Amino acid sequence: MQNEQNYNNELKGKIALVTGGTKGIGKAIADKLTQAGAKVIVVARNHGQKPNPEHHFLAGDISNAQDTEALVKEIVDKFGKVDILINNVGGLNSPGGGYSVLTDEHWEKDLQVNLLSAVRLDRLLLPLMTAQKDGVIIHISSTSGLVPQWEANLVYGVAKSALNTYSKSLSNEVANKGIRVLTVSPGPVKTEGMEAFLNGYANNAGISVEQMTQTMMDKIGGIPMGRMAEPTEVAELVCFLVSPKASYLTGANYLIDGGNIPL
Ligand SMILES: NC(=O)c1ccc[n+]([C@@H]2O[C@H](COP(=O)([O-])OP(=O)(O)OC[C@H]3O[C@@H](n4cnc5c(N)ncnc54)[C@H](OP(=O)(O)O)[C@@H]3O)[C@@H](O)[C@H]2O)c1
Repeated sequence: MQNEQNYNNELKGKIALVTGGTKGIGKAIADKLTQAGAKVIVVARNHGQKPNPEHHFLAGDISNAQDTEALVKEIVDKFGKVDILINNVGGLNSPGGGYSVLTDEHWEKDLQVNLLSAVRLDRLLLPLMTAQKDGVIIHISSTSGLVPQWEANLVYGVAKSALNTYSKSLSNEVANKGIRVLTVSPGPVKTEGMEAFLNGYANNAGISVEQMTQTMMDKIGGIPMGRMAEPTEVAELVCFLVSPKASYLTGANYLIDGGNIPL
């Protein structure tokens, strides 16, 4: 892309962990951090279709406590540290239709994937970061955490909203230990996850994916830029935030939404 920033190997010597780094936004972030010189570990349940040979892939379900503990042990044994943690795993696992169709199981699953996976991983890796008095943690949230869309994604929005508050609290707690914690809230992004969401809803509603996409854009109040983001555009922002260029930034929640949120 024309607007790519040049990081001149600024992340050389850094170890970065990107959860969900095999597809979509996570893959774009992992690629960008690699270009900037970091050694990048990606975690997902499967390899993904176009693995980057420069990424160190580890298999695991990050919404599961046992898998996560085993992953962290493997990372510590192999790499000794994590300087940059990108908590990117998340997504919609519950049906639309509002509160009455949502069971305890739906709530538990989406809270695990969108909130507790990050809380757990932060808790396991922060001691390593605080010991070296250096580290950056990014939480990938969503504009759904700021603007409720109960018809489509009630649990997801609640989980992302909680993630925003948790991220801010954590940033206050660890700022004086040399750790920066930031939130990034994308609007719609063209990823495999978004494609699956649109296909599923279009199927259920008996309309085309194009009609469904338009319905979603209208529902969220329109995107002034008239399109979804590319994953690489989110990756550019994240790469800046974890770089030394952003040394005074912590605690903030960065919208990347083509102008969608009206404030
Ligand atoms: N796309 C959007 O429009 C959009 C908008 C706002 C916010 N976001 C947020 O951005 C993040 C990434 O979204 P995306 O659209 O890029 O997702 P995506 O295309 O569905 O990719 C998700 C990635 O996470 C991995 N993953 C999913 N569940 C996992 C688990 N339990 N354990 C380990 N890995 C897991 C997937 O690999 P496996 O399936 O092989 O595990 C894949 O690598 C999410 O937090 C999402 O909420 C997305």
